[in-house]
Amino acid sequence: MIKVDVSNVISEKEIQKYQADVTRINKMIDEKTGPGSDFLGWSTWPSDYNKEELERLFKEAKYVRDNFDVLVVAGIGGSYLGAKCALDALKGLKGQDKPEIIFMGQTFSPNYTAQVLEYLKDKNFAINVISKSGTTTETSIAFRLLKDLLERKVGKEKSKKAIYAVTDKARGALKTLCNQEGYSTYVLPDDIGGRYSVLTPVGLFPLAVAGVDVKAMLEGAAKAQKEFDNDNLQENKAYRYAVSRDYMLRHNRPVEMFVTYEPQMSQLSEWLKQLFGESEGKEKKGLLPTSATFSTDLHSLGQFIQDGTPLLFETIVNVLNPQLDVEIPSDKDDLDGLNYLAGKKLSYVNQMAYQGTLKAHEEDGGVPCNIITIEKLDAKTLGYLFYFFMRTCAMSAYLLDINPFNQPGVEIYKKNMFHLLGKKGY
Ligand code: PA5
Repeated sequence: MIKVDVSNVISEKEIQKYQADVTRINKMIDEKTGPGSDFLGWSTWPSDYNKEELERLFKEAKYVRDNFDVLVVAGIGGSYLGAKCALDALKGLKGQDKPEIIFMGQTFSPNYTAQVLEYLKDKNFAINVISKSGTTTETSIAFRLLKDLLERKVGKEKSKKAIYAVTDKARGALKTLCNQEGYSTYVLPDDIGGRYSVLTPVGLFPLAVAGVDVKAMLEGAAKAQKEFDNDNLQENKAYRYAVSRDYMLRHNRPVEMFVTYEPQMSQLSEWLKQLFGESEGKEKKGLLPTSATFSTDLHSLGQFIQDGTPLLFETIVNVLNPQLDVEIPSDKDDLDGLNYLAGKKLSYVNQMAYQGTLKAHEEDGGVPCNIITIEKLDAKTLGYLFYFFMRTCAMSAYLLDINPFNQPGVEIYKKNMFHLLGKKGY
């Protein structure tokens, strides 16, 4: 479903030096014996997810589609990025579909929040609140505001049919509220952390409402699950990519730049930045994940990538065939000198930009580039891709001797913020 070329980053000989470690770690993942292994639920989820819960999810997603103009999704981090990424990648940036999906609660921004609330005032909207802990401040504030607006608009009883939650099965303030109010609730299993949760109701509920074929997405992930539970480094694309990343870190390339030539794939880079950054950035180790969208960023960051401090390597996700295309028209005067492109598609121009840039960066700039090629992106391929990256991430982090599933560092700013805000106990 995807091609993964790491040959510009690491040689076959260097790849094979990792074989013993990869075999050991793959066993550790399968047998759930490594650090954080009680959070490995995502690794078998595509084959053992709760089928009954999915049927209920389809039914309720259809109800939302049929009865509301807007679904507002309130969540942050792993409770936001996966759905946003899949929506952009599969539905585009200027989608006209109904219901419209809007995100709130991924920021404290007063401007953005006020604008969304204003926009919703005369809209028929439902709410999907997503929080594993049920206590995340951004999400909780957003949900309080949304619930308040909805209840003022349609009343408390009617609101109950318009609120859908995804949270822990038993713990957290959100779960208590859902129980009390009788909101429909989906469970994010104990053994799946936020950034590994895109294939659970966290991602699937908003995507099903948006009309994405989430069954196909799970099928793609199940295919990847089968393929990547394989310690053979000659065959396993995810592990080959994982060792290439490790090799770069150990050879003075501490920055991985995720590159796309398709703006609707930029959110994939955001999802990847969280997945890898939060999983690996510990104990003063890990690659810094960053991203660029070309050709846009070739007119800004391009100079640095080509000629600046040699600290990064690229991982390019190249989608060969876009869902839509545009032909460049001929012009009788040709004053802009573009007639040499008349009749050509923008996808062709974009691919030539890709090929020209790759040559410039690799050959002239000396920037190592991994290339992930996708023939055409659909829900099944995206499900496969999500699983591919999660499996890569577990392997990469374990190669660094790091627990891929905790995030101790993100608690420190929260403590300071709560202290400043006067929260009890801080
Ligand atoms: O990956 C993670 O665990 C985090 O990014 C969380 O997803 C994020 O902090 C949101 O947490 P919660 O779902 O508990 O609101």
